[in-house]
Amino acid sequence: MSENKRASFGGKLSVILVAAGSAIGLGALWRFPYIAGKHGGAAFLLVFLLSVLAVGIPAMLAEFAVGRSTRQNAVGAFRSISRKWSWLGYCGVICAVLISGYYYIIAGWSLEYLVNSATGSLFASDLSFKEQFEAFQGSYRPLWYCIAFILLTHFIVAKGVEKGIEKASKVMMPALFVILLVMAVRVAFMPGAAEGYRFFLSCDFAEAFKPETIMMAMGQAFFSLSVGMGCMVTYASYFKKNNNLLSTSLNVSLLTIFVSVLAGLVIFPAVFSAGLEPTEGPSLVFVTLPEIFSGIPLASVWAAAFFVLVALASLTSTISFHEVITAYISEEFKVGRRVSATITTLVSILLCTVTFFSLFGVDFFTLFDYLSANIIMPLGALITCIIVMWFMKKEFMPGELTNHGSVNRAVTPLVLFMLKYVTPVLIFYIFIKNFL
Ligand code: PHE
Repeated sequence: MSENKRASFGGKLSVILVAAGSAIGLGALWRFPYIAGKHGGAAFLLVFLLSVLAVGIPAMLAEFAVGRSTRQNAVGAFRSISRKWSWLGYCGVICAVLISGYYYIIAGWSLEYLVNSATGSLFASDLSFKEQFEAFQGSYRPLWYCIAFILLTHFIVAKGVEKGIEKASKVMMPALFVILLVMAVRVAFMPGAAEGYRFFLSCDFAEAFKPETIMMAMGQAFFSLSVGMGCMVTYASYFKKNNNLLSTSLNVSLLTIFVSVLAGLVIFPAVFSAGLEPTEGPSLVFVTLPEIFSGIPLASVWAAAFFVLVALASLTSTISFHEVITAYISEEFKVGRRVSATITTLVSILLCTVTFFSLFGVDFFTLFDYLSANIIMPLGALITCIIVMWFMKKEFMPGELTNHGSVNRAVTPLVLFMLKYVTPVLIFYIFIKNFL
């Protein structure tokens, strides 16, 4: 497609908000706190930060470069580099499909909890919050809410890149930052909050450097930054030529880290204040948060605000992996955006239904999550780095990073060194070490 016909995001801020919208989601607000809770709090945070710096940011830059220079969907982008790499684009699309198979379900939980907080029924029930969560899980409601969430995503993606995706991110991301900050301040005044801070911010180095913890932290970095599965390739294909890739990737990463840490600072004090366990697992946010709000004035309002936050953050992320599949179908099969978005939506509904019923006796939820974050995304990132540094023309990455000599000239050699040697070796080493 020619440069002027293809959609593109507006200015610098739009690009950051859209990419941060993809990155910040359930990964930061739901996955990060429960994984950090299981793997030693601050110890995990430390390894996560290192992973973002050493592997997340370089891999994101490699994807940006591939996407912006080819201006195509994930499959088309890798194919136009060379036919022998198109399979990597397909891996990305498959990964987006796998993530669709469970992400919407949890996003749907946030919608249900939002509705129940707003109507007050969450706090009016005689059941404990744990029992309410179990009763909810035992009903069909999660499926209906999940489908509602998929449809919400559908309408935004179907509207297009500029009118749908960009516009939604520009409204939703600032709202999200404000709600999260207000929540963090509110939680600080709850009794017992100090113990939560102590748990989250105390370091257990023995736990931090276990191969399993490092692997989880790296998986979290990729998942949380949406890197390693063609999502940033697809988004960067809508970037303008003069976008500063390095500053975009730094801003997106900083915002993601900021939100993850803030989520920890909201959730852990809250958990301890309610006398609960930080190692609760996937239900952590949904069982513990209502518990905390229940004791305070205007409980429904606080809980509704929190779940609005989770729903908005999830929505800007679901839009992004929906777009990976939608752009692929639309460009590769030459069909309109509405048609391709509809196909993506139907596939997502089908997969979530399979996951919901745990068909064939398989726990698809854990399987899809593990496969995407711990296998496909690290490998996808590894191979992308290898391609851009070892198989492309020598001038390719320096040209993309400096916008052909006009920006970032001083730091580019360092980034190139990381991309060529440090990042791939680290990913490979951590990956192998975990399985040996
Ligand atoms: N980064 C998103 C989150 O943290 C999840 C995601 C992964 C989105 C991969 C797009 C692609 O919630």
